[in-house]
Amino acid sequence: MKTLIVGNGGRESALAERMSESSKVSAVMGHMNPSIADVVEKTGGLIKIGKVTDPNLVTDFAEENGIDLVMVSADSPLEAGVVDALLKKGIATVGPDREGARIEWDKAFSRELIQEAAPEANPVHRIARSREEVLEVFREFGDAPVAVKPRGLTGGKGVKVVGPHLRDNDNAKNFALSLIQEGGSDPAVIIEEKIEGVEFTLQAITDGRTVAFPPASYDYPYRFEGDKGPGTGGMGAYTMRERALPFMTPEEYEKICSISRSVVTHLHEKGLRFSGVLNGGFFITPRGEVRVIEFNARFGDPECMNIMSLVEQDWVDVMGKLASGTLQEGDITFRDTATSLNYLVTPEYALGGSPGHNFSINRNAIESAGVQIHFSACERTKGDHYRTVGNSRVMALLAHGQTPVDAREKIIEAIASHVSGPLQHRTDIASEQNIRHISSLIGR
Ligand code: GLY
Repeated sequence: MKTLIVGNGGRESALAERMSESSKVSAVMGHMNPSIADVVEKTGGLIKIGKVTDPNLVTDFAEENGIDLVMVSADSPLEAGVVDALLKKGIATVGPDREGARIEWDKAFSRELIQEAAPEANPVHRIARSREEVLEVFREFGDAPVAVKPRGLTGGKGVKVVGPHLRDNDNAKNFALSLIQEGGSDPAVIIEEKIEGVEFTLQAITDGRTVAFPPASYDYPYRFEGDKGPGTGGMGAYTMRERALPFMTPEEYEKICSISRSVVTHLHEKGLRFSGVLNGGFFITPRGEVRVIEFNARFGDPECMNIMSLVEQDWVDVMGKLASGTLQEGDITFRDTATSLNYLVTPEYALGGSPGHNFSINRNAIESAGVQIHFSACERTKGDHYRTVGNSRVMALLAHGQTPVDAREKIIEAIASHVSGPLQHRTDIASEQNIRHISSLIGR
Protein backbone atom coordinates (compact mmCIF):
# COMPACT_ATOMS: atom_id res chain seq x y z
CA MET A 1 0.00 0.00 0.00
CA LYS A 2 1.34 3.44 -0.97
CA THR A 3 0.10 6.40 1.07
CA LEU A 4 0.65 10.15 0.83
CA ILE A 5 0.67 12.85 3.49
CA VAL A 6 0.10 16.46 2.38
CA GLY A 7 1.61 19.06 4.74
CA ASN A 8 4.63 19.67 6.92
CA GLY A 9 3.58 20.42 10.51
CA GLY A 10 3.83 18.40 13.71
CA ARG A 11 0.31 17.15 12.96
CA GLU A 12 1.41 15.70 9.63
CA SER A 13 4.50 14.20 11.27
CA ALA A 14 2.29 12.29 13.74
CA LEU A 15 0.00 11.09 10.93
CA ALA A 16 2.93 10.05 8.73
CA GLU A 17 4.49 8.10 11.58
CA ARG A 18 1.30 6.09 12.12
CA MET A 19 0.91 5.59 8.36
CA SER A 20 4.46 4.18 8.24
CA GLU A 21 3.44 1.23 10.44
CA SER A 22 1.79 -0.48 7.47
CA SER A 23 2.42 1.46 4.27
CA LYS A 24 5.07 3.06 2.09
CA VAL A 25 4.67 6.77 2.96
CA SER A 26 5.34 9.62 0.52
CA ALA A 27 4.97 13.32 1.32
CA VAL A 28 4.18 16.59 -0.39
CA MET A 29 5.43 19.33 1.89
CA GLY A 30 6.46 22.98 1.86
CA HIS A 31 9.85 22.32 3.45
CA MET A 32 11.86 19.24 4.38
CA ASN A 33 10.31 18.38 7.77
CA PRO A 34 12.96 16.10 9.33
CA SER A 35 10.62 13.63 11.05
CA ILE A 36 8.44 13.23 7.95
CA ALA A 37 11.59 12.85 5.83
CA ASP A 38 12.78 10.08 8.19
CA VAL A 39 9.45 8.23 7.89
CA VAL A 40 9.55 8.49 4.09
CA GLU A 41 13.12 7.23 3.96
CA LYS A 42 12.39 4.35 6.36
CA THR A 43 9.47 3.11 4.27
CA GLY A 44 10.98 3.75 0.82
CA GLY A 45 8.55 6.52 -0.22
CA LEU A 46 9.17 9.75 -2.11
CA ILE A 47 9.19 13.46 -1.26
CA LYS A 48 7.96 16.42 -3.28
CA ILE A 49 8.78 19.88 -1.94
CA GLY A 50 6.21 22.33 -3.25
CA LYS A 51 3.01 24.23 -2.55
CA VAL A 52 0.71 21.97 -0.54
CA THR A 53 -2.21 24.14 -1.66
CA ASP A 54 -1.64 23.41 -5.35
CA PRO A 55 -4.21 20.77 -6.35
CA ASN A 56 -2.42 19.97 -9.64
CA LEU A 57 0.94 19.51 -7.97
CA VAL A 58 -0.52 17.11 -5.40
CA THR A 59 -2.64 15.09 -7.86
CA ASP A 60 0.17 14.86 -10.44
CA PHE A 61 2.54 13.56 -7.77
CA ALA A 62 -0.06 11.05 -6.52
CA GLU A 63 -0.86 9.80 -10.04
CA GLU A 64 2.74 9.58 -11.19
CA ASN A 65 3.71 7.57 -8.13
CA GLY A 66 0.73 5.21 -7.92
CA ILE A 67 -0.47 6.47 -4.53
CA ASP A 68 -3.41 4.41 -3.18
CA LEU A 69 -4.55 6.55 -0.25
CA VAL A 70 -4.00 10.22 0.68
CA MET A 71 -4.36 12.09 3.98
CA VAL A 72 -5.09 15.82 3.69
CA SER A 73 -5.06 17.28 7.18
CA ALA A 74 -4.26 21.00 7.00
CA ASP A 75 -6.84 23.77 6.51
CA SER A 76 -5.25 25.56 3.56
CA PRO A 77 -5.10 22.53 1.16
CA LEU A 78 -8.68 21.65 2.14
CA GLU A 79 -9.82 25.18 1.31
CA ALA A 80 -7.79 25.12 -1.92
CA GLY A 81 -9.72 22.07 -3.17
CA VAL A 82 -6.87 19.54 -3.01
CA VAL A 83 -9.27 16.79 -1.86
CA ASP A 84 -11.70 17.58 -4.71
CA ALA A 85 -8.88 17.29 -7.25
CA LEU A 86 -7.72 13.93 -5.84
CA LEU A 87 -11.25 12.50 -5.76
CA LYS A 88 -11.82 13.64 -9.35
CA LYS A 89 -8.84 11.49 -10.35
CA GLY A 90 -10.33 8.54 -8.43
CA ILE A 91 -7.65 8.57 -5.69
CA ALA A 92 -8.95 7.50 -2.26
CA THR A 93 -8.55 10.43 0.12
CA VAL A 94 -9.21 11.22 3.79
CA GLY A 95 -10.41 14.78 4.20
CA PRO A 96 -13.61 16.66 3.37
CA ASP A 97 -13.94 18.20 -0.06
CA ARG A 98 -14.03 21.99 -0.34
CA GLU A 99 -17.77 22.21 0.32
CA GLY A 100 -17.50 19.77 3.26
CA ALA A 101 -14.67 21.89 4.71
CA ARG A 102 -16.79 25.04 4.41
CA ILE A 103 -17.68 24.64 8.09
CA GLU A 104 -14.11 25.80 8.73
CA TRP A 105 -13.36 28.30 5.94
CA ASP A 106 -16.70 30.14 6.11
CA LYS A 107 -17.56 31.05 9.70
CA ALA A 108 -20.91 32.55 8.64
CA PHE A 109 -21.93 29.21 7.08
CA SER A 110 -20.67 27.42 10.21
CA ARG A 111 -22.83 29.47 12.60
CA GLU A 112 -25.89 28.90 10.39
CA LEU A 113 -25.23 25.16 10.29
CA ILE A 114 -24.76 24.91 14.07
CA GLN A 115 -28.00 26.86 14.45
CA GLU A 116 -29.77 24.08 12.53
CA ALA A 117 -27.93 21.12 14.10
CA ALA A 118 -27.39 22.12 17.75
CA PRO A 119 -28.95 25.55 18.39
CA GLU A 120 -28.59 25.21 22.17
CA ALA A 121 -24.80 25.28 21.77
CA ASN A 122 -24.64 28.39 19.57
CA PRO A 123 -23.74 31.67 21.34
CA VAL A 124 -25.90 34.71 20.60
CA HIS A 125 -24.45 35.85 17.29
CA ARG A 126 -25.12 38.07 14.30
CA ILE A 127 -23.66 37.93 10.81
CA ALA A 128 -23.08 41.42 9.36
CA ARG A 129 -22.53 41.80 5.62
CA SER A 130 -22.22 45.58 5.28
CA ARG A 131 -21.05 48.65 7.18
CA GLU A 132 -24.66 49.50 8.07
CA GLU A 133 -25.29 45.99 9.43
CA VAL A 134 -22.16 46.20 11.60
CA LEU A 135 -23.38 49.48 13.12
CA GLU A 136 -26.85 47.98 13.68
CA VAL A 137 -25.43 44.86 15.39
CA PHE A 138 -23.27 46.97 17.73
CA ARG A 139 -26.32 49.05 18.67
CA GLU A 140 -28.06 45.76 19.53
CA PHE A 141 -25.18 44.44 21.69
CA GLY A 142 -24.79 47.79 23.50
CA ASP A 143 -22.08 47.45 26.14
CA ALA A 144 -22.27 43.63 26.35
CA PRO A 145 -18.72 42.50 25.41
CA VAL A 146 -18.37 40.74 22.08
CA ALA A 147 -16.07 38.54 20.01
CA VAL A 148 -15.45 39.51 16.38
CA LYS A 149 -14.58 36.82 13.84
CA PRO A 150 -13.38 37.19 10.30
CA ARG A 151 -15.38 34.98 7.96
CA GLY A 152 -12.42 33.11 6.45
CA LEU A 153 -9.37 31.13 7.56
CA THR A 154 -6.96 32.85 9.91
CA GLY A 155 -4.73 30.03 11.19
CA GLY A 156 -6.55 30.14 14.54
CA LYS A 157 -5.32 33.70 15.15
CA GLY A 158 -7.94 36.00 13.62
CA VAL A 159 -10.68 36.10 16.25
CA LYS A 160 -10.54 39.14 18.52
CA VAL A 161 -12.36 39.32 21.84
CA VAL A 162 -13.08 42.32 24.07
CA GLY A 163 -10.74 41.90 27.04
CA PRO A 164 -7.76 39.91 25.79
CA HIS A 165 -7.50 41.57 22.34
CA LEU A 166 -9.83 44.58 22.10
CA ARG A 167 -10.24 47.38 24.64
CA ASP A 168 -14.02 47.75 24.38
CA ASN A 169 -16.96 47.43 21.99
CA ASP A 170 -15.97 50.64 20.15
CA ASN A 171 -12.63 49.04 19.40
CA ALA A 172 -14.44 45.86 18.37
CA LYS A 173 -16.73 47.84 16.06
CA ASN A 174 -13.74 49.40 14.29
CA PHE A 175 -12.17 45.96 13.86
CA ALA A 176 -15.46 44.61 12.42
CA LEU A 177 -15.73 47.57 10.03
CA SER A 178 -12.14 47.00 8.84
CA LEU A 179 -12.99 43.35 8.10
CA ILE A 180 -16.00 44.41 6.03
CA GLN A 181 -13.82 46.89 4.14
CA GLU A 182 -11.21 44.19 3.38
CA GLY A 183 -13.87 41.56 2.61
CA GLY A 184 -13.93 41.82 -1.19
CA SER A 185 -17.11 41.21 -3.15
CA ASP A 186 -18.92 39.12 -0.53
CA PRO A 187 -17.89 40.51 2.86
CA ALA A 188 -19.16 39.11 6.15
CA VAL A 189 -18.12 39.38 9.76
CA ILE A 190 -19.46 37.41 12.70
CA ILE A 191 -20.14 39.32 15.91
CA GLU A 192 -21.12 37.27 18.93
CA GLU A 193 -21.49 37.43 22.68
CA LYS A 194 -18.19 37.00 24.52
CA ILE A 195 -18.27 33.61 26.23
CA GLU A 196 -16.63 33.43 29.65
CA GLY A 197 -15.35 30.05 30.72
CA VAL A 198 -12.87 27.39 29.75
CA GLU A 199 -12.09 26.40 26.17
CA PHE A 200 -11.13 22.94 24.92
CA THR A 201 -11.40 20.76 21.80
CA LEU A 202 -12.86 17.42 20.72
CA GLN A 203 -11.46 15.74 17.60
CA ALA A 204 -14.38 13.66 16.31
CA ILE A 205 -13.05 11.14 13.77
CA THR A 206 -15.64 10.32 11.12
CA ASP A 207 -16.31 8.85 7.69
CA GLY A 208 -19.25 11.24 7.38
CA ARG A 209 -21.72 8.93 9.17
CA THR A 210 -20.10 6.91 11.96
CA VAL A 211 -18.18 8.93 14.54
CA ALA A 212 -15.42 7.88 16.98
CA PHE A 213 -14.78 10.14 19.96
CA PRO A 214 -11.30 10.33 21.50
CA PRO A 215 -10.54 12.03 24.81
CA ALA A 216 -11.24 15.77 24.84
CA SER A 217 -8.07 17.84 24.56
CA TYR A 218 -7.01 20.99 26.40
CA ASP A 219 -5.01 23.30 24.12
CA TYR A 220 -2.85 26.26 25.20
CA PRO A 221 -3.31 28.97 22.56
CA TYR A 222 -1.46 31.80 24.30
CA ARG A 223 2.23 32.38 23.80
CA PHE A 224 3.39 32.75 27.43
CA GLU A 225 2.86 31.17 30.85
CA GLY A 226 -0.35 32.14 32.57
CA ASP A 227 -2.08 32.62 29.18
CA LYS A 228 -0.25 35.90 28.63
CA GLY A 229 0.89 37.31 25.30
CA PRO A 230 -0.53 36.96 21.82
CA GLY A 231 -2.60 34.05 20.52
CA THR A 232 -0.75 31.30 18.64
CA GLY A 233 -1.62 28.15 16.72
CA GLY A 234 -1.24 26.27 20.04
CA MET A 235 1.73 25.95 22.39
CA GLY A 236 0.81 22.50 23.74
CA ALA A 237 -2.04 20.21 24.73
CA TYR A 238 -2.99 17.44 27.14
CA THR A 239 -5.59 14.67 27.37
CA MET A 240 -6.85 12.50 30.25
CA ARG A 241 -7.32 8.73 30.57
CA GLU A 242 -10.91 9.45 31.62
CA ARG A 243 -11.64 11.22 28.30
CA ALA A 244 -13.34 14.11 30.11
CA LEU A 245 -10.95 16.92 31.12
CA PRO A 246 -10.47 17.69 34.84
CA PHE A 247 -12.95 20.60 34.79
CA MET A 248 -15.62 18.61 32.95
CA THR A 249 -18.25 16.13 34.13
CA PRO A 250 -18.75 12.84 32.22
CA GLU A 251 -22.19 14.20 31.25
CA GLU A 252 -20.61 17.31 29.74
CA TYR A 253 -18.20 15.09 27.78
CA GLU A 254 -21.21 13.13 26.46
CA LYS A 255 -22.90 16.41 25.57
CA ILE A 256 -20.01 17.62 23.42
CA CYS A 257 -19.92 14.21 21.69
CA SER A 258 -23.63 14.49 20.99
CA ILE A 259 -23.29 18.05 19.57
CA SER A 260 -20.46 16.88 17.28
CA ARG A 261 -22.51 13.86 16.18
CA SER A 262 -25.48 16.11 15.31
CA VAL A 263 -23.25 18.33 13.17
CA VAL A 264 -21.79 15.32 11.29
CA THR A 265 -25.33 13.99 10.68
CA HIS A 266 -26.43 17.41 9.51
CA LEU A 267 -23.52 17.72 7.06
CA HIS A 268 -24.45 14.28 5.70
CA GLU A 269 -28.12 15.22 5.36
CA LYS A 270 -27.09 18.33 3.42
CA GLY A 271 -25.29 16.03 0.97
CA LEU A 272 -21.83 17.33 1.93
CA ARG A 273 -18.83 14.96 1.85
CA PHE A 274 -17.19 14.94 5.21
CA SER A 275 -14.39 12.51 5.99
CA GLY A 276 -11.61 12.85 8.52
CA VAL A 277 -11.91 14.96 11.64
CA LEU A 278 -14.52 17.41 12.85
CA ASN A 279 -12.51 19.39 15.39
CA GLY A 280 -14.89 21.15 17.73
CA GLY A 281 -13.77 24.13 19.81
CA PHE A 282 -16.04 24.31 22.88
CA PHE A 283 -16.47 26.37 26.03
CA ILE A 284 -17.90 25.33 29.39
CA THR A 285 -19.18 28.41 31.20
CA PRO A 286 -19.25 29.00 34.97
CA ARG A 287 -22.99 28.20 34.79
CA GLY A 288 -22.22 24.79 33.28
CA GLU A 289 -23.42 25.66 29.78
CA VAL A 290 -21.68 24.14 26.77
CA ARG A 291 -21.08 26.48 23.81
CA VAL A 292 -19.46 25.90 20.41
CA ILE A 293 -16.79 28.42 19.48
CA GLU A 294 -15.98 26.96 16.07
CA PHE A 295 -15.57 23.78 14.07
CA ASN A 296 -12.50 22.91 12.06
CA ALA A 297 -12.66 20.39 9.25
CA ARG A 298 -9.41 18.67 10.24
CA PHE A 299 -7.33 17.58 13.20
CA GLY A 300 -6.01 20.38 15.40
CA ASP A 301 -2.29 20.97 15.55
CA PRO A 302 -0.98 20.11 18.18
CA GLU A 303 -3.97 18.04 19.41
CA CYS A 304 -3.63 15.58 16.51
CA MET A 305 -0.32 14.39 17.95
CA ASN A 306 -1.91 13.59 21.32
CA ILE A 307 -4.77 11.69 19.70
CA MET A 308 -2.75 9.82 17.07
CA SER A 309 -0.53 8.44 19.83
CA LEU A 310 -3.66 6.93 21.43
CA VAL A 311 -5.36 5.24 18.44
CA GLU A 312 -5.06 1.47 18.99
CA GLN A 313 -5.75 0.30 15.43
CA ASP A 314 -3.66 0.28 12.27
CA TRP A 315 -4.12 3.89 11.10
CA VAL A 316 -3.84 3.01 7.40
CA ASP A 317 -6.71 0.55 7.82
CA VAL A 318 -8.73 3.29 9.58
CA MET A 319 -7.84 5.78 6.81
CA GLY A 320 -9.21 3.33 4.22
CA LYS A 321 -12.51 3.22 6.09
CA LEU A 322 -12.66 7.00 6.51
CA ALA A 323 -12.03 7.48 2.79
CA SER A 324 -14.58 4.90 1.66
CA GLY A 325 -17.32 5.71 4.18
CA THR A 326 -17.22 2.23 5.72
CA LEU A 327 -16.30 3.03 9.34
CA GLN A 328 -18.26 0.99 11.89
CA GLU A 329 -18.91 1.68 15.57
CA GLY A 330 -15.97 0.29 17.58
CA ASP A 331 -13.50 0.43 14.65
CA ILE A 332 -11.43 3.08 16.45
CA THR A 333 -10.49 2.72 20.11
CA PHE A 334 -8.06 4.69 22.24
CA ARG A 335 -5.30 3.70 24.66
CA ASP A 336 -6.11 4.08 28.31
CA THR A 337 -3.43 6.64 29.14
CA ALA A 338 -2.99 10.40 29.56
CA THR A 339 -0.85 12.52 27.24
CA SER A 340 0.92 15.85 27.36
CA LEU A 341 2.65 17.77 24.60
CA ASN A 342 4.84 20.88 24.39
CA TYR A 343 5.70 22.78 21.26
CA LEU A 344 9.13 24.44 21.23
CA VAL A 345 8.98 27.64 19.20
CA THR A 346 11.28 30.39 17.92
CA PRO A 347 11.84 33.16 20.51
CA GLU A 348 10.06 35.55 18.11
CA TYR A 349 7.07 33.26 17.45
CA ALA A 350 3.80 35.27 17.36
CA LEU A 351 5.78 38.41 18.22
CA GLY A 352 7.16 39.31 14.77
CA GLY A 353 10.55 39.18 13.09
CA SER A 354 12.05 36.81 10.57
CA PRO A 355 14.75 34.95 12.40
CA GLY A 356 16.66 31.80 11.64
CA HIS A 357 17.99 29.83 14.59
CA ASN A 358 20.19 26.78 15.00
CA PHE A 359 19.47 24.20 17.66
CA SER A 360 20.41 20.64 18.48
CA ILE A 361 18.88 17.75 20.39
CA ASN A 362 19.95 14.39 21.72
CA ARG A 363 17.33 12.41 19.87
CA ASN A 364 18.26 9.00 21.25
CA ALA A 365 18.18 10.23 24.83
CA ILE A 366 14.80 11.93 24.36
CA GLU A 367 13.21 8.88 22.75
CA SER A 368 14.77 6.50 25.30
CA ALA A 369 13.05 8.54 28.02
CA GLY A 370 9.69 7.70 26.42
CA VAL A 371 9.24 11.09 24.74
CA GLN A 372 8.15 11.27 21.09
CA ILE A 373 9.53 13.96 18.77
CA HIS A 374 7.59 15.56 15.93
CA PHE A 375 9.37 18.29 14.00
CA SER A 376 7.50 21.16 12.41
CA ALA A 377 9.07 24.42 11.10
CA CYS A 378 12.70 23.32 10.84
CA GLU A 379 15.10 21.42 8.64
CA ARG A 380 18.01 19.17 9.54
CA THR A 381 21.43 20.66 8.91
CA LYS A 382 23.47 17.61 9.98
CA GLY A 383 22.85 14.70 12.35
CA ASP A 384 20.95 16.02 15.35
CA HIS A 385 21.51 19.66 14.35
CA TYR A 386 18.64 21.70 12.92
CA ARG A 387 17.74 25.18 11.65
CA THR A 388 14.36 26.82 12.06
CA VAL A 389 12.26 27.65 8.98
CA GLY A 390 10.28 30.92 9.18
CA ASN A 391 9.01 32.13 12.53
CA SER A 392 6.80 29.39 13.90
CA ARG A 393 6.39 26.28 16.00
CA VAL A 394 9.55 24.25 15.53
CA MET A 395 9.36 20.91 17.32
CA ALA A 396 6.84 19.08 19.52
CA LEU A 397 7.63 16.71 22.37
CA LEU A 398 4.89 14.29 23.48
CA ALA A 399 4.74 11.84 26.38
CA HIS A 400 2.26 9.45 28.01
CA GLY A 401 1.60 8.90 31.72
CA GLN A 402 -1.05 7.94 34.25
CA THR A 403 -1.87 11.65 34.36
CA PRO A 404 -0.86 14.60 32.16
CA VAL A 405 1.26 15.81 35.08
CA ASP A 406 3.35 12.59 34.91
CA ALA A 407 3.66 12.96 31.15
CA ARG A 408 4.70 16.62 31.49
CA GLU A 409 7.55 15.75 33.84
CA LYS A 410 9.17 13.56 31.17
CA ILE A 411 8.94 16.38 28.64
CA ILE A 412 10.29 19.11 30.93
CA GLU A 413 13.22 16.85 31.86
CA ALA A 414 13.90 16.03 28.18
CA ILE A 415 13.94 19.72 27.23
CA ALA A 416 16.22 20.66 30.13
CA SER A 417 18.70 17.84 29.49
CA HIS A 418 18.62 17.19 25.76
CA VAL A 419 17.66 20.33 23.78
CA SER A 420 20.29 23.03 23.16
CA GLY A 421 19.60 26.37 21.54
CA PRO A 422 17.29 29.37 21.80
CA LEU A 423 13.90 27.64 21.35
CA GLN A 424 11.22 28.54 23.91
CA HIS A 425 8.31 26.61 25.43
CA ARG A 426 5.59 27.18 28.02
CA THR A 427 6.58 25.53 31.29
CA ASP A 428 3.04 25.51 32.72
CA ILE A 429 1.49 23.15 30.17
CA ALA A 430 -0.22 20.31 32.11
CA SER A 431 1.34 21.39 35.40
CA GLU A 432 -0.67 20.46 38.49
CA GLN A 433 -1.02 24.13 39.39
CA ASN A 434 -2.20 25.11 35.92
CA ILE A 435 -4.75 22.29 35.77
CA ARG A 436 -6.17 23.38 39.16
CA HIS A 437 -6.22 27.01 38.05
CA ILE A 438 -8.17 26.21 34.85
CA SER A 439 -10.86 24.39 36.86
CA SER A 440 -11.10 27.33 39.26
CA LEU A 441 -11.97 29.64 36.36
CA ILE A 442 -15.41 28.03 36.23
CA GLY A 443 -15.65 27.51 39.97
CA ARG A 444 -14.76 23.79 39.99
N1 GLY B 1 -4.70 24.23 17.69
C1 GLY B 1 -5.41 25.11 16.85
C2 GLY B 1 -5.70 24.61 15.49
O1 GLY B 1 -5.27 23.56 15.08
O2 GLY B 1 -6.41 25.29 14.76
